[in-house]
Amino acid sequence: MDFKNLLLESSNGIAKLTVNRPDKLNALNHETLSELARAFDAIEADALVRVLVVTGSGEKAFVAGADINELVAMQSAMQAKDLAFFGQQVFGRLEKMSKPSIAMVNGFALGGGCELALACTLRTASKSARFGLPEVSLGIIPGYGGTQRLARIAGPGVAREWVLTGDMIGAEEAWRVGVVNRLFAPEELKEGTWKLAETILSRGPTALRLALETIRRGLNMSQQEGEIIESDMFGLASTTEDMRQRMQAFLDKSKKK
Ligand code: COA
Repeated sequence: MDFKNLLLESSNGIAKLTVNRPDKLNALNHETLSELARAFDAIEADALVRVLVVTGSGEKAFVAGADINELVAMQSAMQAKDLAFFGQQVFGRLEKMSKPSIAMVNGFALGGGCELALACTLRTASKSARFGLPEVSLGIIPGYGGTQRLARIAGPGVAREWVLTGDMIGAEEAWRVGVVNRLFAPEELKEGTWKLAETILSRGPTALRLALETIRRGLNMSQQEGEIIESDMFGLASTTEDMRQRMQAFLDKSKKK
């Protein structure tokens, strides 16, 4: 696929999508957001891709936010609302993908960059990465789903602290509060992230898809309703040939012991 601001490559079931505007610390302008939407659709449609890794180009940044040059040019509340709505739709596509995604956070993940990472299924980070939602220091609020996702991932207390202070948050702290799933020394980030992706790749593909959907949908309903979805999905998973083969393989191995 042809992109100006993204790099997309894939091998052995793992797609790597890199936001590639290193001279602007990979800031998300409208063009890049549109390209992300196209890339997410392509990745969703590609049966050979089973895990997506999203990262940023260069040593310094994952993504340093929405492009402030475009934000400053907003002329009306409705124009700004449309921009936020567009970003929410794009990141919503990522979150609702039928395959898991991992944000590999290699540097600054600020504003829209932090929101991009939050829309991924999981997050790995280099110990030198920095997170944050600095929008209030620019007189706006996070607009690409950050207020909602951070509160769901790390709880409302953490979301209020990050959003109201606008402070940069070190990777260790982001890991401590559950925003980062796995933390690595900078030189081990890629290998550690690929190991995580490969572990996921080795699991049942239909089971992964159903589990992802069950957790995602359950977050927006009561536990009782969520458990109904869970038993439905459990039922669906039990009909797959993959389940039969995996269970038989376990039993055969046990017999040999
Ligand atoms: N939008 C547009 N351009 C951005 C950007 C953004 N969000 N973040 C960085 N850039 C650009 C800078 O303008 C600069 O461009 P230039 O070389 O043409 O002047 C380039 O990226 C490098 O950034 P710079 O600020 O020089 O790097 P730094 O190491 O001094 O600082 C940051 C790094 C991340 C602390 C700083 O760039 C920053 O605060 N960025 C904005 C973060 C933000 O508020 N994001 C949320 C937006 S809602």
